Order: sequence, then C-alpha cells, then structure tokens
Amino acid sequence: MADATKYADLGLVNTRDMFKKAMDGGYAVPAYNFNNMEQLQAIVVACAETRSPVILQVSSGARKYANQTLLKYMAMGAVEMVREMGANIPIALHLDHGDTFELCKSCIDSGFSSVMIDGSHHSFEKNIELTRQVVEYAHPRDVTVEGELGVLAGIEDEVSSEVSHYTKPEEVEEFVKKTGCDSLAISIGTSHGAFKFKPGQPVPPLRFDILKECEKRLPGFPIVLHGASSVIPEYVEMINKYGGKMEGAVGVPEEQLRKAAKSAVCKINIDSDGRLGVTAVIRKVFVEKPSEFDPRKYLGPAREELVKMIKHKNENVLGSANRA
Ligand code: G3H
Ligand code: 13P
Ligand code: ZN
Repeated sequence: MADATKYADLGLVNTRDMFKKAMDGGYAVPAYNFNNMEQLQAIVVACAETRSPVILQVSSGARKYANQTLLKYMAMGAVEMVREMGANIPIALHLDHGDTFELCKSCIDSGFSSVMIDGSHHSFEKNIELTRQVVEYAHPRDVTVEGELGVLAGIEDEVSSEVSHYTKPEEVEEFVKKTGCDSLAISIGTSHGAFKFKPGQPVPPLRFDILKECEKRLPGFPIVLHGASSVIPEYVEMINKYGGKMEGAVGVPEEQLRKAAKSAVCKINIDSDGRLGVTAVIRKVFVEKPSEFDPRKYLGPAREELVKMIKHKNENVLGSANRA
C-alpha cells in the first residue's frame, strides 16, 4: 500500500483555527463543493481575490467522478496557484457526507485535512459509535471531524431522505462529549438541492430557535449549516429562459444566511448555487451561439460567473471576505 499523504505537505490546513476565528469574528467560512477543474479554479480564485478562508468540499460522488488521485493533485495544484497569485489564504480539503469509517480513513490517508462522518441516518447510539471511530483515526493525524445530528430533507450524497428531522438540542452535548468531534452539522429546516421550500411561502421556516438552543448548550462550539444555497432566482430564471425546466426552485434567503453566519454557525455549505450558475451560463451560450463547439467558450464564461457568485457570497452573505 502506498504511504499516506500528509495534508500539510499539500499546503492544506485543518478547520480548527478557521472556525475559532470565524466564531470570534461573527462570520462563517464557506465550504464550496467541486467536481472539476473549472469549479476548483473559480473557488480558489474568488477566495484568493476576496481574501477569504475556504473549505474545498468533495462528496463521495465527486470522488468517484473525478478520481481520488487526481483530486488530491488538483487540490495541491490549487494551493500552489493561490500562492503564485500572492494570496495567503487558509485552504482545507474536506470530505462532504462521508458515510463509512473506511471512506473517511481513505480520504485522510490521501491528504484530506478534514472529514465529515454523516451518521445521521443511524440511531443516536450508532451515530456516536461511528463518529467516535472516525475521530480516533483522525485526531492523531490532526485531521478535524464534522459530525451530524438531525436529518436534512433532500439528497445527502447518495442517501436521500423524504422528510427532515430537526436536530434535538437535548442530544447535542452528549454527542459532542462522547464523540470528540470538532464541529456539528445540525438540521434546522434547510435541505439539499434546488427545491427547498414551497414557492411563494413568504418566509421560509428556518428554526433559529433550535440553533439558539444548540448554541446555548455548546458554548463556543462550531455549528455547520448544510443545504444553504439561496437557489439564486436570476439563475433559475435564466435556466428557464434558455430551455431549462426548473419551475418552483427556491432556496434559503440570503438575509437568513447572514443572520446564521453571525451566530455559532462557522461553516456554510454551498453546492447547488454553483451548479445553477454554471448551467444557466452554458444554456445561454448554447442558445445564443448554436454553432459553438469549443468547450472553453462555454466553460470559460461559466467559470467567470462562478467567480462572481462566490465573491458575492463571501463579501455579502457569509462575511468571510478579508478575514484570511
Ligand atoms: O450534500 C450534497 C452535495 O451537494 C454533494 O452532492 O453527492 O451529488 O456530489 P453530490
Ligand atoms: P445545497 O444543495 O443547498 O448547495 O447544499 C450543499 C451541501 O449541504 C453540501 O453538503
Ligand atoms: Zn450537505
């Protein structure tokens, strides 16, 4: 078996220090998912240009899609590219929704600096046992671990859930104490994907009371918000205008994310907004320039849009700009 890769040798950092600063500074660190070169370039360029710390997030599906070895070198290349830009921002490489100990171990051994073990579909006891097992492997290697309590509706990697179960605040202290995890994802009404709430619902019902109660029971402990895309209406309109079909797609309003970022929420996960932006731009190019067949002519503008979107999130929603 090949020797394990140490994340520090790739120029990566874990999330401990990032979260401490985010907690003290009242902002959230962005965690953007990537599957390909254009997404990765956009994320690191936008974060370097806004001087934001960043968590590069890889799901098990992304790992299968892009190849685990290639991904590691892509992350390493991204770190190097950022240095060449003269930017000095902390970059973490994080496994999103790891569902087994073996997957988390494999990511840690291949250079990830942080992993999520999502045992939220198991019983409370089994979730604790699984999360503890990952922590015991991760901590001696100085890799940070995110656990989850409560189930989000929508697709969580390859596990889909029809219904959400809010996090029970009375469980969080025991979970954190028994597992030793470094951060905790909670369920307060957000969900994965582009259809989070009923269209026309005046204020999406996020349970800030549950967040507050978790904060009270875990003072100073980093909370993570999944399913936090705003499903940017301009992108949905563009997609529908240029031949797509995404009627009724609705996300979390930006004001609510701003409010969450000021609390103990130290990490906000965004994937769907990036997917929507890329799809909207590519659709537009295909309609306006039907004879174009050079992928750079549609992936390039899609990448530019992604840079714009991420800068906006860092500056105006998460508050992570100029915090690196
Ligand atoms: O939480 C799910 C993420 O958006 C990743 O999605 O499993 O399709 O890569 P994926
Ligand atoms: P969105 O689908 O809202 O972007 O959520 C992404 C996410 O939580 C990744 O773990
Ligand atoms: Zn998620």
